[in-house]
Amino acid sequence: MKDFSALAAPESEEGRLLARLDPSRMPRHVAIIMDGNGRWARSRRLPRVAGHRAGIRSVRETVESAARLGLEVLTLYAFSQENWKRPRSEVDTLMDLLQEYLRKELATLHENRIRFSVLGRLAALRPAIRGELEGAVAATAGHDGLRFNIAISYGGRAEIADACRAIVRDGLAEEAVDEAAIAARLYTAGQPDPDLLIRTSGEMRVSNFLLWQIAYAEIHVTPTLWPDFRFRHFLEALLDYQGRERRYGGIEDGEEIAGGAAAARG
Ligand code: IPE
Ligand code: IPE
Ligand code: MG
Repeated sequence: MKDFSALAAPESEEGRLLARLDPSRMPRHVAIIMDGNGRWARSRRLPRVAGHRAGIRSVRETVESAARLGLEVLTLYAFSQENWKRPRSEVDTLMDLLQEYLRKELATLHENRIRFSVLGRLAALRPAIRGELEGAVAATAGHDGLRFNIAISYGGRAEIADACRAIVRDGLAEEAVDEAAIAARLYTAGQPDPDLLIRTSGEMRVSNFLLWQIAYAEIHVTPTLWPDFRFRHFLEALLDYQGRERRYGGIEDGEEIAGGAAAARG
C-alpha cells in the first residue's frame, strides 16, 4: 500500500490533509472539468487567455500529484466540442498553449512513466497539433504508470455517437449490442470509469463530459478557479470522496441485516 507521508511536510496544510487520506480507499480514476480561467483573468483585469496560461501550472501540478498519489487514471477536460464556438483568437491561443505544454512536459511524462492519451475528435485539430499529440501518445504508450487522458475537441454525446458508428462498422448483431459492446468502443475503452469527478469554479453542470462513464461517479464541485487549484484542493476533493457512501443503486451498508432482523421480529 502507498505511503503518502513523503508527499508533503507533516506540519504543512497538505501534510495534515494527507494524514487523513486513506490509501486503501483511493479512487482509481479522477476526472476534472478545469473551469474558471476566464473569471480568474477578469478578476485581475487581464485578457481571458492570461487565465488559460495561468491554468497550465495547475495542470502540471495536478498531473504530478495524481502520479505521486498512485492513481490509475487522470482525465482532464481541456477543450470541448462546444468550445469551438469561442472567438478564433482564444481558440488559437488555447491550441498554442496545448502544444507548448506538450513540448515542455514530455520529458516529465517519461520520467514519471506516465502514459498519455487523447480523448476527442482529433480530426478537427490543426495537423501540427494533432501530430504533436499523436507523437506523445506513441512515445509514452509503453509506460505503466499513471494513465493521463486529455479531452480535446471532446463531446460526450459525440463519443457515444462514434461508438454507435463503430458498432455498425463492426457489423454487430442486434443481440450483441449491450453495455459492454458500447463501452468497448468509447474513447476510454479498457479504462475504469471515473470514481470522482471534480469541477472547479463552482458550476453545477457536467457540460457534455464523459456522459456514459460518469454514471456512478461521485461529484465534487469547488468554488476555486482552475488557475488557483493546488495540491491541497486536490486532497480536499479526495477526502470529500472518501467521506461518501457509494451505493450503485443498492441499500445502505449493514441496512439489510438490520432490516432482515426487523422483518423477522415481524
Ligand atoms: C476553462 O475556463 C477553460 C476552457 C473551457 C477551455 P473558461 O475559459 O471556461 O473560464 P470561464 O468559465 O469563462 O471563467
Ligand atoms: C467545460 O467548460 C469545458 C472545459 C472545461 C474544457 P465550459 O466553460 O466550456 O462549460 P460551460 O460553457 O460553462 O458549460
Ligand atoms: Mg467556463
